[in-house]
Amino acid sequence: MSYVTCLRCRGCGREYPVEPLNACDFCFGPLEVEYDYDSITRAVSRERIAEGPPTMWRYQDFLPVDADMALDMGTGFTPLIRAENLGRKLGLENLYIKNDSVNPTFSFKDRVVSVASAKALEFEFDTLACASTGNLMGSVAAHGAKASMNTLVLYPANLEKGKILGAAIYGATLVAVDGTYDQVNRLCSELADNHRWAFVNVNMRPFYAEGSKTLGYEVAEQLGWLAPDHCVVPGASGALFTKIHKGLKDLVQTGLIDSADTKMHIAQAEGCSPIAQAFNDGSKEVRPVIPDTLAKSLAIGNPADGPYALRTIAESDGSAVIAMEDEIVEGIQLLAQTEGIFTETAGGVVISGLRRLVNQGVIKPDEVTVAYITGNGLKTQEVVESVVNPVHISPSYDAFEEAMAGR
Ligand SMILES: Cc1ncc(COP(=O)(O)O)c(C=O)c1O
Ligand SMILES: [Zn+2]
Repeated sequence: MSYVTCLRCRGCGREYPVEPLNACDFCFGPLEVEYDYDSITRAVSRERIAEGPPTMWRYQDFLPVDADMALDMGTGFTPLIRAENLGRKLGLENLYIKNDSVNPTFSFKDRVVSVASAKALEFEFDTLACASTGNLMGSVAAHGAKASMNTLVLYPANLEKGKILGAAIYGATLVAVDGTYDQVNRLCSELADNHRWAFVNVNMRPFYAEGSKTLGYEVAEQLGWLAPDHCVVPGASGALFTKIHKGLKDLVQTGLIDSADTKMHIAQAEGCSPIAQAFNDGSKEVRPVIPDTLAKSLAIGNPADGPYALRTIAESDGSAVIAMEDEIVEGIQLLAQTEGIFTETAGGVVISGLRRLVNQGVIKPDEVTVAYITGNGLKTQEVVESVVNPVHISPSYDAFEEAMAGR
C-alpha cells in the first residue's frame, strides 16, 4: 500500500482527492502529493531499504504508488562514482558523480515515468503521453510499450536526432511541433483537458514529480547514510532540483539520517536560464525567456517549478549557476576525459557550472559534493561531432607507421 493521504495545493493549501489533477481550481497553484509521515516512519528502516530491489523501488514507501502496481524496468540505484580525476582537475577532494545516464532509456526521466506510468495504469488510462524536451519522450515510449499502452509524444521539431529515434523505436506516435517546448506544453494542457490521456508531466504531474526524490534518497544511502554538503543539479522546469532536496529532507523527517544541511545549486545554460537570472536579480519571480541554447533538454523558458526552485535555493543556502554556451561542450569533454562518462548537454552544463562554483569559492575543496549527470551523450552526438578525427590509412603496416610517425 502507499502512504498517500491527499493532493494539496502548494499555493493556497486546499486539499484535493488522489486523482489525475495537477492545478488548484481556486488559485491555479500546482498540486503536490501529501503523505502520512508517521506511518512511513514506522515502516521504513535502513535494513528494509537494503532488502529491497536494486532499483528506485527500494524507496517504494516514499512513493505514491501501490508497490504491486510499480512498473519496474530496472530504473535507479545507479552508480555514485567517486570522481578522483575530475576532482583533482577542479580542486575537489570529495567529488562524486551520480551517473543517472545508465537508466533503461539513458536519462533520469525513467524515475519520474516509472511512477507516472504506474499511476496511469492504476487510474485505468490506456494512453501514456507527454510534452518533451527530448529525454522524457524516450522514457514515456518505453514504459508505454512495457505496459502495453498507446503512447503519444509531442516535442519541439528541432530536437536532436538521437532523442527522436530514442522514442520512435518503441513504437510511439510522434508529433513534431513547430514551436518551443513552452508552446508544446500549453498545447498538451489543452489536449489533456479534452481527452482521457495520461500526460505524465501535465495531468499526472504531482505523481510524476515524486519519482525524482529517489535521486536524493539513493545518494544519501550510497554515501553511507549521509547527506552531501553540496548538490549540483541541472534545471529546466526546476522539478528535479526541488525534489532531490525534498528527498534528503524526507530522510531526516523519518529518522533515516540525522541531518541534511546540503546546499542545493541549480545549473542552467546561458541561452535558457530564467531561474538562475531570477536568483542573480534577487527576485522571487521567474521571468519567462525564449530559449536559444545548445542544451535542448533544458530549454524550458517558462519553468513550472521556477518559484519553488528559488525557494529551495533560499532554504538550503544554495545558489544558481549559469554555464556559458561555449562551456557546454567543454564540460562534456572534461567529464568524458577524466571519468570515462559520456554525458549529454545537460551534463555539460552541470560540469561547467560545478567548475564555476569551485572557482567562485562557493564549494570548498574538502566538502562532499555530488554532481548529477542525468542524461547520456549518445543522444546529443551532433554537439560533439568535431572530436571525430581519425587517422585514415590503407590496410598495411607501413601505412600505419607512416601515418603515426608525426604524432
Ligand atoms: C537530462 C536532463 N536533465 C535535467 C532535466 C531537468 O529536469 P526538470 O525539468 O525537472 O528541471 C531534464 C529535463 O528534461 C533533462 O532531460
Ligand atoms: Zn490553490
